[in-house]
Amino acid sequence: MGPSQTDHHAPTESPGKLRMDMPEMSVAEEAARAGGAVVSRYFREGVAMRNKDVADLVSDADVEAERAVVEVIRRTYPGHEVLAEEAHAGDAGAEHLWVVDPLDGTNNFAHKIPQFAVSVAYYRGGVAQCGAVYNPIRDDWHVAVRGRGAFFNGARTRVSAEASLGEALVGVGFYYDRGAKMEATLAALGDLKRDHQVHGVRRFGAASLDLCMVALGQLGAYFEFTLSPWDFAAGRLFVEEAGGRVTTCLGDPLPLAKTSILATNGLLHDAMLGVVGPRYAGLR
Ligand code: IPD
Ligand code: CA
Ligand code: CA
Repeated sequence: MGPSQTDHHAPTESPGKLRMDMPEMSVAEEAARAGGAVVSRYFREGVAMRNKDVADLVSDADVEAERAVVEVIRRTYPGHEVLAEEAHAGDAGAEHLWVVDPLDGTNNFAHKIPQFAVSVAYYRGGVAQCGAVYNPIRDDWHVAVRGRGAFFNGARTRVSAEASLGEALVGVGFYYDRGAKMEATLAALGDLKRDHQVHGVRRFGAASLDLCMVALGQLGAYFEFTLSPWDFAAGRLFVEEAGGRVTTCLGDPLPLAKTSILATNGLLHDAMLGVVGPRYAGLR
């Protein structure tokens, strides 16, 4: 198989069976679809962007998409907790928890680049059970069910097979910080290019989709020094179910909280930790 490990001929579980076994999956998809409809309408028609902070943008699209997503979830699960970026500060420790980014990649959205997604994940007892990352413009569905696999537009997907950084394309994200964290990120990219001769580095601008690109075998690795739970809640399960590995940049288990993140095809994990670990540790 080529660089992308998506195998369109692999026998896949029937989506109907998956949804029957985990009803939350259907709700996650329906919720993501509802949010996606709002986001794509605003993308076509245009919407005013506001600043939450320097270069941290928000719009009616984010807020209304979140409302639409949460409405679908609450209709079926009124007692479940919701942690969503714009207006739902649910308890991350709740037994039944939905984690939602109504529009991940807002900066791309604002600049008319169709690289953004609605991300919806369901966690039980602190463990990701299922999730959907949906790009409504491309109508791309990244769906994962714990223990059952990762599916891109219905076909099972797997991470890439490269075992050395010299064969890898590496994705990165920048947190809003433009000081030490930005410098440390740039330094890590320098290390990867200069010392490890990676094929290249990429910054696509939507963390949920960056994670999906690792799971699709397009990126060998992706890292970012700070993300929020809604950025990675669904994407991390998609990577894990595609055979990859996700930890903090120091190699610790990923908390459902603000954290650094490293996602790889598994084979590149230790080598990546050797690069991003010291740069991240140097920040404290
Ligand atoms: C951002 C994007 C971006 C990442 C930032 C996130 P938003 O989310 O995922 O790629 O680098 O750290 O905050 O603000 O577009 O939802
Ligand atoms: Ca986000
Ligand atoms: Ca967002």
